[in-house]
Amino acid sequence: MTMRDHLLAFDQGTTSSRALLLDPDGGIVAVAQAEFRQIFPQPGWVEHDPNEIWATQSGVAAEVVNRANLPLNRIAAIGITNQRETTIVWDRRTGRPVYNAIVWQDRRTAGLCDRLKADGLEKTVQERTGLVIDAYFSGTKMAWILDHVDGAREKAERGELAFGTVDSWLIWRLTGGAVHVTDETNASRTLLFNIHTREWDEEMLRHLRVPRSMLPDVKSSSEVYGEATGTLSGIPIAGIAGDQQSALFGQMCHEPGTVKNTYGTGCFMLMNTGKDAVPSRNKLLTTIGWRHGGETHYALEGSIFVAGAVVQWLRDGLKIIRSSSEVEALASSVPDTGDVYLVPAFVGLGAPHWDQYARGSIVGMTRGTTDAHIARAALEGIAFQTVDVLRAMENDSGISLKELRVDGGASNNNLLMQFQADLLGIPVIRPANVETTGLGSAFLAGLAVGVYKNLDQVRQLWKADRVFEPSMSADRREALHARWRKALDHARSWVEP
Ligand code: G3P
Repeated sequence: MTMRDHLLAFDQGTTSSRALLLDPDGGIVAVAQAEFRQIFPQPGWVEHDPNEIWATQSGVAAEVVNRANLPLNRIAAIGITNQRETTIVWDRRTGRPVYNAIVWQDRRTAGLCDRLKADGLEKTVQERTGLVIDAYFSGTKMAWILDHVDGAREKAERGELAFGTVDSWLIWRLTGGAVHVTDETNASRTLLFNIHTREWDEEMLRHLRVPRSMLPDVKSSSEVYGEATGTLSGIPIAGIAGDQQSALFGQMCHEPGTVKNTYGTGCFMLMNTGKDAVPSRNKLLTTIGWRHGGETHYALEGSIFVAGAVVQWLRDGLKIIRSSSEVEALASSVPDTGDVYLVPAFVGLGAPHWDQYARGSIVGMTRGTTDAHIARAALEGIAFQTVDVLRAMENDSGISLKELRVDGGASNNNLLMQFQADLLGIPVIRPANVETTGLGSAFLAGLAVGVYKNLDQVRQLWKADRVFEPSMSADRREALHARWRKALDHARSWVEP
């Protein structure tokens, strides 16, 4: 009898679509990746073409299956993980998007957010959705599409349009339009989902004027939602989690108090808070970690909008490196930044500052400043932002962190990881497999279809690769952090509302 024991993860990120084929031990059999266009129609706007998202994602999935040369009937399930908040609205009949995907980084709805704040909604939003009012989340992006695309509101009111975050869009396409679902983790990023009742929130729908008929059904993160059609025909789709929650799960942060930080396009630190939705007093988000086995796990999250993206900017904007992997060597060629600080607030500042109008800044340059100092300051800027979030998290949870588990592309950068440990004063632990985002959704899918019997079996699959021990004195740490805070002040409220 053929064993259906492999898992296929779709990892649809902000700058690339990735697919991973995994054996039952979580070992990578094949991986493929395709970048797609980043569309910047105006300063502060970021869009993707939903059809390109689908084409690249389905393309890499087919590629890994071909490359592994594995019969389809060896694949037990597909797990989906995705860039969160990014908003797609499409016509249910034709399957055509009515507008480009408005990406989580997009700031066009900052004004609408200001109006919601002026209407006194901050408390309601935090109590019901666990979020802060910011252009980051899907709700105001949906409202923008309904208000700006010709005929969209009328069509939506007639029930002809569907909304989805990227998970919903991919599943809709993968099932040939048969299934319109999302999971609780993705729903919890829309500004429209009540994280306590775990239902779409009528009051928030009213405030944002979003018709209920557009929304997907909200499911758990681990169950069979439907079957793929096309080249992956017949394979059950059985796991969904937003990429940061998926990484939390894949890092085996299953116990309350455990924390991971993913260094991707942005940087996202999540702490598992178990069955309690802990409200933040320090402007972190309360969000859903996953729902599995009839239980919803909550998390506290600090979202940093630009982390790895600053390295891309060094490559594509400043052109001081040719590939992202060169940044470590360039930054290591100088012993320090020469007191240069780079605050990568390219799309405003997320947690814990939430300044929609901040923009990037470089301060402290002299005639002696070189590209190496700037590259090093860019890496250090990622680590400083993480410190700010971690401190807020410790305050909110009352827990002093003992260690930080890291993953994501930039976690391969040893210089950055050592500096991170130094600045935090705790060990930074990198797992053997840093593809934890993909792994998380694959494990959730594997649990749903019986590849794994229980969580214990999944936990056995995690292994540490390297531990970065802190070696900086507390005084030096504080002195550097004080300089960083000063640099941050230069970035704040730069553009006019
Ligand atoms: O909230 C946005 C986040 O999900 C994007 O993740 O990995 O594409 O930077 P990533």
